[in-house]
Amino acid sequence: MLATPPEQSRSAQDKTGCLHLPAFNAVIVGNGAIGGALLECLLANPRLNRVMVLGRRRRPADIDASVDYLRFDALDPNSISSAAAKVHQQLDHVHLLINTVGMLHSTEQQPEKRLRDVSAKSLQQSFMTNAVLLPLLAQSFSPLMRHADPAVLASLSARVGSIADNRLGGWYSYRASKAAHNMLLQTLSREWSLSHRNVSVVALHPGTVESPLSSPFISTTYGKRVLSAKESASALLAVIEGLRPGETGAFYDWQGHSIPW
Ligand SMILES: NC(=O)c1ccc[n+]([C@@H]2O[C@H](COP(=O)([O-])OP(=O)(O)OC[C@H]3O[C@@H](n4cnc5c(N)ncnc54)[C@H](OP(=O)(O)O)[C@@H]3O)[C@@H](O)[C@H]2O)c1
Repeated sequence: MLATPPEQSRSAQDKTGCLHLPAFNAVIVGNGAIGGALLECLLANPRLNRVMVLGRRRRPADIDASVDYLRFDALDPNSISSAAAKVHQQLDHVHLLINTVGMLHSTEQQPEKRLRDVSAKSLQQSFMTNAVLLPLLAQSFSPLMRHADPAVLASLSARVGSIADNRLGGWYSYRASKAAHNMLLQTLSREWSLSHRNVSVVALHPGTVESPLSSPFISTTYGKRVLSAKESASALLAVIEGLRPGETGAFYDWQGHSIPW
């Protein structure tokens, strides 16, 4: 892992990453609060050629007409490969693949406060959504990411997935599945540093962001900064923009600070 935060690593003149190609193609996986805000930011970038969104619901009515929308479910591996195949029918290259899918709670599952709340089912659901999806995406998008242009595979993790940072405990399934996500990502980055030398593979913590995933757990007395999805998305794109050529296997927060694994 590299010690220099990406925002300090490149001068304004040295913009050589995927977002500075004359025309780049992006795929956003998940269209929740942060995924939707990333889409808005990318649509405002004049260098964007095509953007495709993978989501689990029907095409949202408010999504821009220029955006291709494909359905998939992280719990159904075939739907991931078939969505990637549909992307491949339309694009030869993907320059930016951002995974924004995540699950902290559902109608059947709440983050565990203590050991007795843990169940095999809650662990399995969390692992499928928060961890297993990442390598399946990488497998399916591998041919689209392997080309001569700079490219980034960024996957949203969470600071609570850092084993070194776990001082509070609780949230077993979410923490463990994000830690597994991080290990899968780091392992992928090692393999792709040989086979996909153009791709930076990075885990990103988006900050504490107002969203359906987090809002039930942000109390009025929460002492830290809560970002809007728009603030988080533009900060995350700045971190992606600041990655050095060849930089891979890093875990950064939205401010570009390195997080211990
Ligand atoms: N918000 C925060 O404070 C915070 C902090 C740290 C990390 N993160 C991470 O940031 C990422 C984005 O979270 P967010 O805040 O934008 O939350 P969000 O608005 O709830 O977005 C999560 C997205 O994941 C999708 N998803 C969940 N299960 C899925 C499945 N089985 N198949 C396909 N899609 C599925 C959701 O789909 P539906 O729209 O269909 O529900 C939603 O689009 C997550 O990885 C989260 O862990 C967020």
